[in-house]
Amino acid sequence: MNHFEYRFGELYCEDVRLSEIAAAVDTPVYVYSSSTLRRHVRVFRHAFLDHDVLIAFAVKANANLAVLTTLAIEGAGADTVSAGEIKRALKAGVPAERIIFSGVGKTADELAFALDVGVHQINVESPAELDLLAAIAREKQARPAIALRINPDVGGAGGHDKIQTGGAAAKFGVSAADAAQLYARAAQDPHLEPVGLAVHIGSQIRDLAPLKAAFELLRAATLDLRASGLSVSRLDLGGGLGVPYFNEPEPPSPAAYGAMTLAVFQGLGVRLAFEPGRLIAANAGVLVSRVLRWQSRPDRRILVLDAGLNDLLRPAMYDAYHDIWPVQQSSAASAPTDIVGPVCETGDTFARGRPMVDLAPGELVALMTAGAYGAVMSSTYNARTLPAEVLVDGDRWAVVRRPWPVEEQMALEQAPPWF
Ligand code: LLP
Repeated sequence: MNHFEYRFGELYCEDVRLSEIAAAVDTPVYVYSSSTLRRHVRVFRHAFLDHDVLIAFAVKANANLAVLTTLAIEGAGADTVSAGEIKRALKAGVPAERIIFSGVGKTADELAFALDVGVHQINVESPAELDLLAAIAREKQARPAIALRINPDVGGAGGHDKIQTGGAAAKFGVSAADAAQLYARAAQDPHLEPVGLAVHIGSQIRDLAPLKAAFELLRAATLDLRASGLSVSRLDLGGGLGVPYFNEPEPPSPAAYGAMTLAVFQGLGVRLAFEPGRLIAANAGVLVSRVLRWQSRPDRRILVLDAGLNDLLRPAMYDAYHDIWPVQQSSAASAPTDIVGPVCETGDTFARGRPMVDLAPGELVALMTAGAYGAVMSSTYNARTLPAEVLVDGDRWAVVRRPWPVEEQMALEQAPPWF
């Protein structure tokens, strides 16, 4: 069931009209559907039948506390990449036993914080990080559970060059060849508890083949480690499964992904963890924006919105496609239209030559599939207001992050004493 749909000629989020929200909250505004968030966790869990898997939502995709709480209540954990994300997850009610700490550049302070909090697992990405963590753990007389992130050298997986992470040239993880020796070293250390391996090869992956290749490599590595007497009880398979942005073939379903995964790891006796971000949040959110005006050009239709690349960066950064739906349904003829924002950059373009009806200034549109990597990547570029976020649940809705206007931004700044 789709929770963003037209009813009586206008676009709803669950049982709330988007126009009602836009009348009360300044646009642009992110709107999230609780039911969609919950459904995505359930669908993902269901894909693994009765296996006890940890679904650690990638907080980087959507770090809003109300979103994280919604997912935590559904039983999700959190995949985090900074102390800030750990703090957000904890504040949202995610128990430390369900928090994974990943990332290639964890600082000593962040590692110490993760130990104090007692996170479920730290995914170590390099020999230098392993040494640093060992020293901090020794000092604290702790023994954190760690997984070693392997770079499986599976390139070409992901929706855009900038979001592929599995190739040998990427900065992430250690090579499979180095992993065995590093794992053995960790096992020797009384202050480290190597529990398993981790992998994440990219994002917006639309084909199971590269995932399967990476998982098979992880299975082989597990058997190798065990053959040399080391214990491997957990595998973290990362995130990466794509979602439909409507201009491309449907990505594999969570059910197909689950079946493939269970087949690869059958009989291995490991607990699986996953770090889905986009799959959970992307289709649970839209960015509602108002039409400012038409820019007149003899040869092009250019529609200017009040949302810009500072609000939704993905089209500018990754040439990403987002469907753009008028909030008031229209049966009028559409014509190819460039849809742009107000920011002073040519890259501030959401769509080129997109069929669009003749919208009048003040009318609303929704940029679809914006719940993941939307608000989290927004900025105040051009001294613009950071947009608000709204959570809908059935017929209720609430502002869950208020907008951050320039007056409040300026309040953080101060003149140097010599002015
Ligand atoms: N785990 C790790 C270690 C990751 O690096 C990522 C995403 C995930 C999990 C979640 O991946 P997902 O399930 O969402 O594909 N800003 C880009 C996406 C960057 C993804 C970075 N890593 C975008 O807007 O497309």
